[in-house]
Amino acid sequence: MTKYIIKGGRPLQGEVEISGAKNAAVAIIPAAMLVDGACRIENIPQISDVTMLLNILKRMGAKVKTVDRHTMDIDCSGVRRARADFDMMTRIRASYYLIGALLGRFGQAVVAMPGGCNFGSVRPIDQHVKGFIAMGAEVEVKNGLVVATTPEGHLHGADIYLDVASVGATINIMLAATFASGITRIENVAREPHIVDVANFLNAMGADIRGAGTNVIKVRGVERLSGGTYALIPDQIEAGTYMAAVAGAGGSLLIKNVIPKHMDCITGKLEEMGVRVEEGEDQMLVSRSGPLRRINVKTLPYPGFPTDMQPQIATVLCLAHGTSVITEGVWDTRYKYVNELLKMGANITVDGRRAIIEGVERLTGAPLKACDLRAGAAMVIAGLCAQGVTEIEGVDYIERGYEDLVEKLRKVGADIESVDIPDPEERPEAVKIG
Ligand code: EPU
Repeated sequence: MTKYIIKGGRPLQGEVEISGAKNAAVAIIPAAMLVDGACRIENIPQISDVTMLLNILKRMGAKVKTVDRHTMDIDCSGVRRARADFDMMTRIRASYYLIGALLGRFGQAVVAMPGGCNFGSVRPIDQHVKGFIAMGAEVEVKNGLVVATTPEGHLHGADIYLDVASVGATINIMLAATFASGITRIENVAREPHIVDVANFLNAMGADIRGAGTNVIKVRGVERLSGGTYALIPDQIEAGTYMAAVAGAGGSLLIKNVIPKHMDCITGKLEEMGVRVEEGEDQMLVSRSGPLRRINVKTLPYPGFPTDMQPQIATVLCLAHGTSVITEGVWDTRYKYVNELLKMGANITVDGRRAIIEGVERLTGAPLKACDLRAGAAMVIAGLCAQGVTEIEGVDYIERGYEDLVEKLRKVGADIESVDIPDPEERPEAVKIG
């Protein structure tokens, strides 16, 4: 096990390079299942969610060759079974994309119910299932398994209206529809940049998908996808996390390899708080020297403020003058991290989907435990801003989605280190209760 030790109170100064987008990678890697031949994917982030997915594909018979640290050749031609490894699947949310990909390729899929970050409520997949059924699949969810079959042997095009603009359902239905006969029209779809990236990847391999990035996506089924090369977009949330870090800790960061347009929803809010942002073509200079102002934030599907930046911005707002209100508009609840910030002297009251944050003079270092990926990132930001030492356990969550976080932060002046600690089960002082 690993923990991070942070001595806070140092402004950040220098350059940070953003990696490829996690949520594009975890969809595009399973999408390779639809490709006949090898596809070269560039700008793949080195994170544990990606490693886990690649292992799942390899176990299924895919060939994965590492070209360099961020480039992989993936060839799924040798996969013969529409069944994925259960144990590994339950550890990662994005394993659900294998349902759409396997259904599209084989007309059937047997996949474990997905795992991933738990925000305190069930993460349903009813909209994915509704789409598959509309395309002619029969889907049963029992004993932790999703079993999807097609009585006709393949899927057909359909008109599908999503009840919620779900990222996962939009991508999964797009994957399943790639080879479906006729036209699939999906309405009220999500518009996140990684959805456009998945559509661009599939189109680059020979698919016919239009409208990604708008409310309606139209997929005209094709016979076959063949190999090619594709580079992933930069990670909007990783970039936003560094923007929040410099907003909180102060200083000036040149954030490189970003698409500034994707950052608008975050940039606008940080500027309202008194952070200075200068945009270049593929980089942004973010600095903060004056006091932070209070703001209200409501998370919404793209192009709204992303829920995956909610814990990070809430942390920065702990140090702003006045009262800020955060409204979580995507998940029922995503405030498990608040208890950890309270230990550092934050003043936050959670009321359902709202968090009311009274700015305080300072946060004080404390021992913390990450409870999900973005919560963990928020705790790192809190540690960077706090006086004294913060120790964060549960960093496996953070390493699921942030490449080289510790190294990147050290390079810009943060006092953070990653240290190995014995597993609690093995610690001599550990007391087992119950
Ligand atoms: N929803 C349903 N039914 C469904 C699917 C979703 O009711 O069938 C609801 C959810 O309960 C939620 C809302 O719709 O209230 C949005 O869920 P969505 O399906 O969009 O989320 P997801 O696909 O499970 C992805 C990201 C999350 C991110 C959300 C929202 C991946 C692997 N995960 O999850 O990312 O929070 O979209 O933008 O792409 C993260 O990166 O930290 C992370 C959690």
